Amino acid sequence: MEIVPLSDAVGVEIKGVDLREPLDSNTLEQIEDAFNEHAIILLRDQDISLGQQKEFAQHFGELGSRNRPGKKPNELDEYGEHVMLVTNVREKGKPIGSLPDGEMTFHADTAYFEFPSKATMLYAMELTSWGGNTLFSNCYTAAEELPEDLKRRLDGKKAMQVYEYGTTLKMKEKYDRDNFPHYAHPVFRKHPESGRSALFVSELMTEEIVGLPKEESDEILEALFEHQKKPEFVYEHPWKVGDLVLWDNRCTIHARTDFPRDERRMLRRLTIQDTKPVVEGAVPYKQAAAE
Ligand SMILES: [Fe+2]
Repeated sequence: MEIVPLSDAVGVEIKGVDLREPLDSNTLEQIEDAFNEHAIILLRDQDISLGQQKEFAQHFGELGSRNRPGKKPNELDEYGEHVMLVTNVREKGKPIGSLPDGEMTFHADTAYFEFPSKATMLYAMELTSWGGNTLFSNCYTAAEELPEDLKRRLDGKKAMQVYEYGTTLKMKEKYDRDNFPHYAHPVFRKHPESGRSALFVSELMTEEIVGLPKEESDEILEALFEHQKKPEFVYEHPWKVGDLVLWDNRCTIHARTDFPRDERRMLRRLTIQDTKPVVEGAVPYKQAAAE
């Protein structure tokens, strides 16, 4: 096994691992360490079934559910409650999966829940002839490189995370908070494994810095969103069929570039649920879910 950086910004490629084969505990430990240290891991040329993908994902924790808290289970596709097909493939004009078309702005998956996903795994099955790249931005270095006065202004503050399902580019001033999930999380989120602080805001999902006047909050968020796009924090992944990427939603955000609508694109997504609360000492996930 070999571990090679994907960029100066974030992420590593893990070479020499075939996910069709059972992995020994030493290999798994090295993969887990690489994930915790580098936030994004890529394994290329994988030819795996959904079962094999799930088995690998489960080494990182319990699979996330697509059923929404407090709501009846949705009508999900044949793949069940854990799997999201990210695809523009349509049957009778209706997309068979989610987030079918076009560019998508930076976000962290399910940041709007009290217990956001720890990680997301995408496996590339069909790709377009151009575009559809995923950009990853390192939220640790983005936090560290903020001007000192801004760090002080944001210290201890929370940011409201909201999302209307299906939105890929935020065109409206505000989301409908009465009908969509939202939750305020610390602007600087401490990662439970690394102990480092990450800038936990994103253009698609963060609407306000709680407790600041609207104008000031808007101005700061706009500056933060621009800051997160700086090339020194970003790795752009051009997908190849067989790529499997696992990213840490606690310390990275991701975005998608545009691609042709008339060509097929299909990636199979699983999420890993975080069992540790966002804020140290807060109620843990399982306990909260049982209440
Ligand atoms: Fe996403």
